[in-house]
Amino acid sequence: MKYYILFGPPGAGKGTQASAMAERYKLRHISTGDLLRKEMAAGTPLGKKAKSLIEAGSLVPDEVVEGMIENAFDTIKDVDGFLLDGFPRTTAQAEALDKICASKGGEVTACVSLMIPDEMIRERIKHRASIEGRADDANDETITNRIRTYHEQTEPLIAFYKKAGKYEEIDGTKTIDEVRAQIFSVMDKH
Ligand code: AP5
Ligand code: MG
Repeated sequence: MKYYILFGPPGAGKGTQASAMAERYKLRHISTGDLLRKEMAAGTPLGKKAKSLIEAGSLVPDEVVEGMIENAFDTIKDVDGFLLDGFPRTTAQAEALDKICASKGGEVTACVSLMIPDEMIRERIKHRASIEGRADDANDETITNRIRTYHEQTEPLIAFYKKAGKYEEIDGTKTIDEVRAQIFSVMDKH
């Protein structure tokens, strides 16, 4: 089994690139953000708990998302691997992922990282707000906090995966097609 991480700040293009990646490499795309938004839309207890955190631009507790990943790995069988979009986002989650993969006899294959500068994060999210209507795209304060949360809690994972020799950085500022081509050339090596 392959375990790819699709890494990057908010609005970097993770969701945009995921389906082509999943199709080409026969991976199941798992976005913890999408799973949490489904829980919110269904009004489950978990969704209700997550709502205020997501709308503030903060992370939900590590155990919640780790449980989602474990559950997916236990139940999804008919694929060559997984494409994890938006997970891990903290060092604790990255360590948990290593353990979960090891328990399946595997390991993280590569961390494919889409990088864009902070100003572009704002532009992209503002553009998407008018199309998708995500609550966490709606106001500047939330977007600022998402960017801060990324730098404080998620960015340290770059060093974590570099140290493991698994970090692959892609210039996310290029066009969607150019970014996809870069991603494929990196993934073909793993
Ligand atoms: P999540 O849903 O993961 O949001 P995110 O990381 O903030 O990322 P986005 O979905 O905003 O951006 P994206 O990279 O997918 O960009 P997209 O392709 O849409 O998480 C939401 C929240 O859930 C978190 O804040 C947190 O509260 C919680 N959560 C989720 N996972 C968690 C975890 N592991 N731990 C704790 N909490 C967690 O592109 C953006 C826009 O740009 C689109 O309009 C797109 O069309 C456009 N675009 C994309 N690529 C290009 C390009 N190359 N050129 C021009 N435009 C482009
Ligand atoms: Mg996304």
